[in-house]
Amino acid sequence: MKDASANQSAKKAAGEAAADLVESGMVVGLGTGSTVAWTIKRLGERTREEGLEFLGVPTSFQAESLAIECGIRLTTLNQHPVLDLAIDGADQVDHRLYVIKGGGAAHTREKVVACSAQQFVVVADESKYAKHLSHPVPVEVLPFALRPVERQLQELGGKPVLRLGKMKDGPVITDNGNFVLDVDYGRIEEPVELGARMSRIPGLVEHGIFENLDELYLARGSGVERIKRKS
Ligand code: A5P
Repeated sequence: MKDASANQSAKKAAGEAAADLVESGMVVGLGTGSTVAWTIKRLGERTREEGLEFLGVPTSFQAESLAIECGIRLTTLNQHPVLDLAIDGADQVDHRLYVIKGGGAAHTREKVVACSAQQFVVVADESKYAKHLSHPVPVEVLPFALRPVERQLQELGGKPVLRLGKMKDGPVITDNGNFVLDVDYGRIEEPVELGARMSRIPGLVEHGIFENLDELYLARGSGVERIKRKS
């Protein structure tokens, strides 16, 4: 219980700190999950208290609902194809700033948004930080192509498991109407190469390895450390 509440305050600290990056006039990608939810809530407060004026592009139904609740004005990628900034959570980040995302099954839209942004920032607590990536990689798949995609992921050395719903029989369905496979590769030595190989599989919509993180806001100890990508 104590650990869970310490973890919540770390998520809050990282999430809120990154909200300071947003300035009036910006168009900002709003990520999905419990850590970036603190960013969205803080941006709502800044909108009400400081008159901050910006537009958000949500990465999921969850992010959209929370942003609306917080009074944040929204737009779409088709109206604003280039974003100033995207802020999101992560399932795991390694010391080279490669990221695994998709624990909430939102990684396809999250990747489109992150890759449309001039700056991509991740907010996380220390439990997400690892020397090497080893978290199972979420992979969104067309239901029509489930078995052939599973077979090809196994050929790449992965162990795919179909993600099942909670309080719903059968598979999780993404915001895009697809299935998710969680693919265990053990320790991932070459995330970029693995990602490129997965991207070549027909019917695989998107995998959860992100290689374009610019800066990590990592809550550890009593503060939030900012770790920038080494150029
Ligand atoms: C959503 O699909 C994920 O990519 C989330 O951003 C990730 O799982 C982080 O979630 P938490 O902040 O809730 O841990």
